[in-house]
Amino acid sequence: MIFAANLKCNHTRASFKNYAEILNETLGAKSEDIIVFPPSVAFLEDENNFIQGTQNFYPCFNGAFTGELGREHLDEFGIKCVLIGHSERRVLGDEELIKAKFAFAKEQAYKIIFCIGENLDTKNSNQTLQFLKQQLDGLDLDYEKLIIAYEPIYSIGTGVSADNKDIAKVLEYLATLTKAPLLYGGSVNENNIKEILSVKHCGGVLIGSAALKVENFIKLIKG
Ligand code: 13P
Repeated sequence: MIFAANLKCNHTRASFKNYAEILNETLGAKSEDIIVFPPSVAFLEDENNFIQGTQNFYPCFNGAFTGELGREHLDEFGIKCVLIGHSERRVLGDEELIKAKFAFAKEQAYKIIFCIGENLDTKNSNQTLQFLKQQLDGLDLDYEKLIIAYEPIYSIGTGVSADNKDIAKVLEYLATLTKAPLLYGGSVNENNIKEILSVKHCGGVLIGSAALKVENFIKLIKG
């Protein structure tokens, strides 16, 4: 199972150093299935027992792109894992940029966690599968370092995860499109993680709030 923590705009350089130390010590050895996305100012140069990923990047090596991070900057921290398409970033950019990021990340042989998810209106009008298919259109779903995270927007940060039946239906559908591991994200916590992980085709979780404290994240990993 894959356990990914998206720390979003939380943690400082100092607090993430502490987070990583505790996680490294607990894991004891390198695990490819534990992924953490800290804010970029907190990236660590040292080798960790988890995969360090970036919440965002720009599809370039370097250049005149104010405020962005290119491959050169990720390289300094050994980062080869990227989050693309999170709903909190989709509202800031366009579909074309997301596709360009995917193409660049694939070219660089990065591990990609590609997020998709519908809002409540789309769900209530029974357009979910169609909508998700659209979000995946044009992407190489056979890319061997691809992981897809299904994060319904209505469940992110609300404390209420999506209904397991709805998750199952979506994952069942996604499994017909790709062999990539499928994650669920959206209010995963210690009360619901077990049931979520037992949904057919669920290959892990992408956790926000419940992973902000390293002790909680470790609890979720240990089950
Ligand atoms: P929450 O776990 O806080 O709902 O966030 C989920 C998320 O957006 C992970 O990327």
